[in-house]
Amino acid sequence: MKKKILIMGIETSCDETAVSIIQDNGSKPPKILANIVSSQEQVHKKFGGVVPELAARSHLEKIEMITKKALKKSKVKLNDINAISATAGPGLIVCLSVGFSFAKSLALALKKPLIAVNHLEGHALSPMFENKLKYPYLLLLISGGHTQFLVVKGLGKYKRIGTTIDDALGEAFDKTSKMLGFGFPGGPKIEKYSKKGDPKKFDLPMPIINKGGCNLSFAGLKTAVLRAKILLKTKKDKYDLAASFQATVLKIIYKKTKIAIGKFRKISKGKSLVIAGGVASNQEIRRIIKKICYEEKFKSYFPKMNLCSDNAAMIAITGLKKFKKRKFDKLNFPVRPRWPLDRRAKFLKGSGVKL
Ligand SMILES: Nc1ncnc2c1ncn2[C@@H]1O[C@H](COP(=O)(O)OP(=O)(O)OP(=O)(O)O)[C@@H](O)[C@H]1O
Ligand SMILES: [Mg+2]
Repeated sequence: MKKKILIMGIETSCDETAVSIIQDNGSKPPKILANIVSSQEQVHKKFGGVVPELAARSHLEKIEMITKKALKKSKVKLNDINAISATAGPGLIVCLSVGFSFAKSLALALKKPLIAVNHLEGHALSPMFENKLKYPYLLLLISGGHTQFLVVKGLGKYKRIGTTIDDALGEAFDKTSKMLGFGFPGGPKIEKYSKKGDPKKFDLPMPIINKGGCNLSFAGLKTAVLRAKILLKTKKDKYDLAASFQATVLKIIYKKTKIAIGKFRKISKGKSLVIAGGVASNQEIRRIIKKICYEEKFKSYFPKMNLCSDNAAMIAITGLKKFKKRKFDKLNFPVRPRWPLDRRAKFLKGSGVKL
């Protein structure tokens, strides 16, 4: 019997050291044999954000041990792995270098193909462990560093139709949480405390809600939270502000996703909307997306909760898809701190941006 393809995925783009081993499953979604994620939450907690040098050092300390753990868990021998895939970008250069150099050494020593993976493509394909997703689909990528609407036409084929012109949504959650003293990472904290608050208490702005198509902006919302903070007296006030922030985000997502679907319809016959990235674990966001899909007769797809935030299984599945197309990379492939999925899309950040 023919042996099933085994792929190793390695992820170190930011503050998670992760290694996964997956197995191809023919026409069914691939099987995750091991998916080890070591979070550096404790390392960065006291700084309220990721410190690149500390993150890189921690990756260096852990990468070998996490790889051994993944091999043990999957009961796979290193030599039986068909290819080594690893995140080559985008991300923090010092962090990417650790995982990608490690992957290169493994590939060289084992004489196996090296596959450079775009971390964002990993997020985009992450729901494919659960679902047989067909191209084209509309993707709302909401993570710590990105917020974009993309038309996914195929492996490596992306057209960006909307993006944030300033902060990423995950960043807005993190900064709001920091301002309210809830800690880091902020998304899960804001979601938790919002449940105790009144979402109508504060009237917060929705920047560029009526212009810029499905481009988004969160910087003004964040500043409004900073201003409103002065008015807070009790714990309940804090919860109210958290709930008002989240409710405003939901309104923005509702309006902008509807516009994105309209644009998607003009260029594609697809009827699927995929939500991926760390912020996709937010239950209220999932609820609003399901509502939109019901209204628009679209089908919504979400990654499993443990595959929303950074992990290496999503890198391995991208590696597997590239492996099947024999898209291998040379050992001199560089890490790419900036690596947009749609390379032709205009850079839409900073003052003077014309929407
Ligand atoms: N329940 C939640 N609600 C809202 N945001 C959340 C939730 N859980 C996680 N997040 C946010 O998700 C982000 C992390 O997601 P992810 O790991 O995909 O980002 P990243 O890898 O740092 O960025 P990128 O993928 O753009 O490089 C953080 O900003 C975190 O606050
Ligand atoms: Mg990520």
